[in-house]
Amino acid sequence: MPESALKMSESAGADDRTELTFAHITDAHLTSPDGASAGELMNKRILGALSWRRRRRHIHRPSVLSALVTDLAAQAPAHVAITGDLTQIGLPMECQAARAWLDELAPPAGVSLVPGNHDRYARAAWAETVGLWAPYAATDATGRVVTRDPGSPDAPEFPAVRVRGPVAFIGVSSSVVSPWFMATGRVGAAQRGHLGRILERAGDAGLFRVLLIHHTPVPGGDKWRKRLTDAGDVARLIGRHGAELVLHGHTHRLQTSGLPGPDGRSVPVVGLSSASADDPRPGREARYSLWTVQHADGGHRLTHRSRVFRDGLFAEGTDWNPLDQ
Ligand SMILES: [Fe+2]
Repeated sequence: MPESALKMSESAGADDRTELTFAHITDAHLTSPDGASAGELMNKRILGALSWRRRRRHIHRPSVLSALVTDLAAQAPAHVAITGDLTQIGLPMECQAARAWLDELAPPAGVSLVPGNHDRYARAAWAETVGLWAPYAATDATGRVVTRDPGSPDAPEFPAVRVRGPVAFIGVSSSVVSPWFMATGRVGAAQRGHLGRILERAGDAGLFRVLLIHHTPVPGGDKWRKRLTDAGDVARLIGRHGAELVLHGHTHRLQTSGLPGPDGRSVPVVGLSSASADDPRPGREARYSLWTVQHADGGHRLTHRSRVFRDGLFAEGTDWNPLDQ
């Protein structure tokens, strides 16, 4: 077992119910499909492999992600939330490489992970692909306070609950094999069937509910060919049962919106740019968030900091705070 970049105890933050600082990173696209066999590319993956050769390998740079991990270690959050797209085209060898990267990043108790659409690019055995990440994704002993539900048949680890300090990380998989030229996602009836109960129980337990999902659940929040096809259903669950924060990826740009919660207040829905993007366009530079949740006066206080990649380093990004909008 290699030494992790982030020093965390197996119970990091689990018994301190008063405060947690956690990082959110997304769309690291950290693997390479180079070396895939012709047979592995005889499906929709050929499109992704061509896109990687032509364009994406020039945007998603290992050096940027490596600078992020160095900065993350210095910031020392107690937990890391990752909202999918660790790979390019979801090959078993890419999922193995992503697992090795996770093992170097932090112990499984230090990460809560959901997969993205690139991680399920074509039909593949779950256990040989995103199932390899189960220790970083599945409900653990802390989450069983909220749920003992089995996972869904098509995404066995999800919905997943992991409680760290005052926060319940509730992960749903929107990662499904989509048709050619499409990058849609779907949570599906099986996960949605459990999600309402999970949100309800976590709320009753006084936990700060952070929903992790790759695609934005805001209806109309993304292009038609990239949308979450059951966004309306997921938004209704949040409207009925509530959540305190929704974090997503997929769009590779900063995105702040909201969904109506049960008490009439808006639930913040926040999307980030890619963690490995060597892209100077405003809103698309590599970035990660540091969220702090403090339990106080019978409620919660939420604050946000941003770390952005400029001139070869990550530094404080004072240009964007989703809580100010
Ligand atoms: Fe992505």
